[in-house]
Amino acid sequence: MCGIVAYLGDKQAYPILIKGLKRLEYRGYDSSGVALINGDLNLYKRKGKVAELEKFAKGKNVEGTVGIAHTRWATHGEPNDVNAHPHTSQDKNLAIIHNGIIENYNVLKEELINRGHVFESETDTEVLIHLVEDVQQNENVDLVEAVRIALNQVVGAYAMVIISKKDDGKLIAAKKGSPMVIGVGDNEFLIASDATPIVEYTRKVVYLEDEEMAVMERGKELQLKSISNIKHTPYFQELTMNLDVLEKGGYDHFMLKEIFEQPTSIKETMRGRLRIDDGVVWLGGIREYTAKLKNAKRILMIACGTSWHAGLVGEYLFEDLTRIPVEVEYASEFRYRNPIITEDDVVIAISQSGETADTLAAIKMAKEKGATILGICNVVGSSIPRHTDAGSYTHAGPEIGVASTKAFTSQVTILTMMALMIAKERGTISRSRYHQLVYELETIPEKVEEVLKTNDIVKKISALYKDSRNFLYLGRGYNFPVALEGALKLKEISYIHAEGYPAAEMKHGPIALIDEEMPVVVIAPKRGHYDKLVSNIQEVKARKGKVIAVVTKGDVDVAKIADHVIEIPDVDELLVPLIATVPLQLLSYYIAVMRGCNVDQPRNLAKSVTVE
Ligand code: G6P
Repeated sequence: MCGIVAYLGDKQAYPILIKGLKRLEYRGYDSSGVALINGDLNLYKRKGKVAELEKFAKGKNVEGTVGIAHTRWATHGEPNDVNAHPHTSQDKNLAIIHNGIIENYNVLKEELINRGHVFESETDTEVLIHLVEDVQQNENVDLVEAVRIALNQVVGAYAMVIISKKDDGKLIAAKKGSPMVIGVGDNEFLIASDATPIVEYTRKVVYLEDEEMAVMERGKELQLKSISNIKHTPYFQELTMNLDVLEKGGYDHFMLKEIFEQPTSIKETMRGRLRIDDGVVWLGGIREYTAKLKNAKRILMIACGTSWHAGLVGEYLFEDLTRIPVEVEYASEFRYRNPIITEDDVVIAISQSGETADTLAAIKMAKEKGATILGICNVVGSSIPRHTDAGSYTHAGPEIGVASTKAFTSQVTILTMMALMIAKERGTISRSRYHQLVYELETIPEKVEEVLKTNDIVKKISALYKDSRNFLYLGRGYNFPVALEGALKLKEISYIHAEGYPAAEMKHGPIALIDEEMPVVVIAPKRGHYDKLVSNIQEVKARKGKVIAVVTKGDVDVAKIADHVIEIPDVDELLVPLIATVPLQLLSYYIAVMRGCNVDQPRNLAKSVTVE
């Protein structure tokens, strides 16, 4: 949460910083700000989106070749102009941007107040910059050393950059817990929370490690050291990201673009791993852990949000195919409930961003207790993959819409491949079933393409139900997680209350809600528990509920009783989640758009939840 960008070089910093902030708005967008040094320190901050900041800064002095900028998701203090970053030191010489939480800020603040410091905002970040200033004055050290000493007094997480009016040729950055990437170009340095603001200027990057500091000076090489003062040699990596994935490419919203990208993103997830010529699945990233997985007494899937739903599909897949017991855990619950973890457990952490604080903390805990940790993440070089023993990237490409779409189908694709690979190793799948699933998995991108053709039907249905106040989503077996995901998607972006339920559980409660006002989305493909779902649909209809059913192409039984049907191609039961999720994504998208909601940046949400 919160996005940070910084620039030092020959170019004007302001346009680079604003463009960078827009790329990072997925991380939070309740207020933003920029600080530039050009003789003076010019600071502009505004409540609201980056566009508000731009309007505010128009016509003002935005000159300067060094600057820092921030887009905020409020933790300490409400979103307003004062609490927005950057924050400054008491003497207004230093400015800071920060992503993370300083947990002991209250204690530090009290000490600083006793020493005469006066604070303008309610933020923990302002405390940090005052602390740096205090250390510099009292210990009589240079700024870099002051930052290092101050960071040793801090408990919590940070990705922060400091600039100084007295020294406009320098950026000082540090990180712990929150992500940070440094781009090194020709006579220029860029810093950001992820690589998207950097890639069009340079592809040469360094991912900062926890408790590492970086000093960037004009005309000098990048200098790294630990906060315990040990010099580090930078490990440069090459960005492979394609620039057009960062643009809307003709779509009205990133979310719609990302929904339509799924045939390609799923293909990318399978590339080189589904070797169709020899009919084999091979995930190179977990190769060395095949035996560990094969012999695991238990698999724990740990995740949050949409990724947790992918984990639930994973549970069905793994238990079905590998016969290894699986538990799916909300990371936030798992880490605080004293769970039983043994060395025979394999934990699979699932995360699009690779930064979710609870997931990260949960895997650190499981690792300490001796479990093997594997990751399924989308953002390359993010924190979670760096804390796992091994893993498989989803390679779905950057996902910018806050509501996760293509990341989910790619996570499920990896889980399917992993389950197939382990089932083969364990001998829990027959040769013919293995080959059938491998070949059918390979056709999923074209099946998704076909599902996307339901776009217009889904749009029409959306128009009919856009004013509904509640929605119920029902599914059984593999489609129960799909129902949960459909409901989550609708809640997130349209603000309509929606619940996902196992269809048979409806009669233990939610059935009481059903009347002519209640749309019920039922995922009812031919494969699975079709007859039982038909009965559930009858139960809804008997109470005058409106049924929107996702059915297999050519279905007649459900079509006779449902109010609306959305047809999807016939695929194996295990693979249905990969295609049945897609019309539900479209449904929430169109309903949200028709209700005038900001689908890419829904209220109160952030894409990367780096606080617990
Ligand atoms: C946030 C996002 C969700 C996402 C969840 C988990 O709530 O808005 O879309 O599913 O975090 O994020 P992760 O990056 O770990 O998958």
